[in-house]
Amino acid sequence: MDTLAFMNKLENRFSFTPEDKSILTSNADWGLEIASEMADHFYSYLGRDEEMNAILNATEGRIHRLRETFIHWFHEMFTGIDDWGIGYSKSRWQIGIVHVKIGIQPQHLVPAMATVVHEVGKKLKLEGKSEELKEALGKICMIDLAFIEQSYVEVSTSAVLRETGWSAVLFKRLVTHGAESM
Ligand code: HEM
Repeated sequence: MDTLAFMNKLENRFSFTPEDKSILTSNADWGLEIASEMADHFYSYLGRDEEMNAILNATEGRIHRLRETFIHWFHEMFTGIDDWGIGYSKSRWQIGIVHVKIGIQPQHLVPAMATVVHEVGKKLKLEGKSEELKEALGKICMIDLAFIEQSYVEVSTSAVLRETGWSAVLFKRLVTHGAESM
């Protein structure tokens, strides 16, 4: 997986512009300030779902670790790490892999990210932040979500190819045929 190429593709698809990046970096301190409150909303949302709550509490100290990693992740959407370059794209890819390993399915990720967008939207309004910042944040949340989702496809496809020795073309044909019969 060429993570930077994927990042560039998503930037184009979402029209994530230099203006979006600049408004995010100039609000990076504010992002860090509200990150803890956003983490509270995020984990109370996950905690209200029976399946997700079980995952969150499956191991000792997981919730605590997760709050910290969430705050870090949230702040990085504003800083862009390395101007949304290779470092950023690798970190987003890695987050996807972690969720695949734990077995968290895409069906949980979309509403979870929607919660972030919703809560941050309320906060932006409350604090009189601009529509441009809201737009930029919405785009970067969707880029991050696309990374996590894509890692499912990449990880499962490469696992099947490795285990079976099939070619990518054969696998694709089998999936297409399978979908036709559904
Ligand atoms: C789409 C929104 C989500 C974001 C942005 C997010 C963010 C993160 C980040 C940054 C990490 C740390 C990755 C690392 O260690 O490198 C992580 C790990 C994890 N996430 Fe998420 N996550 C999301 C959705 C979910 C959902 C829906 C669940 C379901 C319960 C979940 C549960 C976990 C768990 C269990 C870990 C591993 C914690 C550990 O270290 O034991 N996440 N997540």
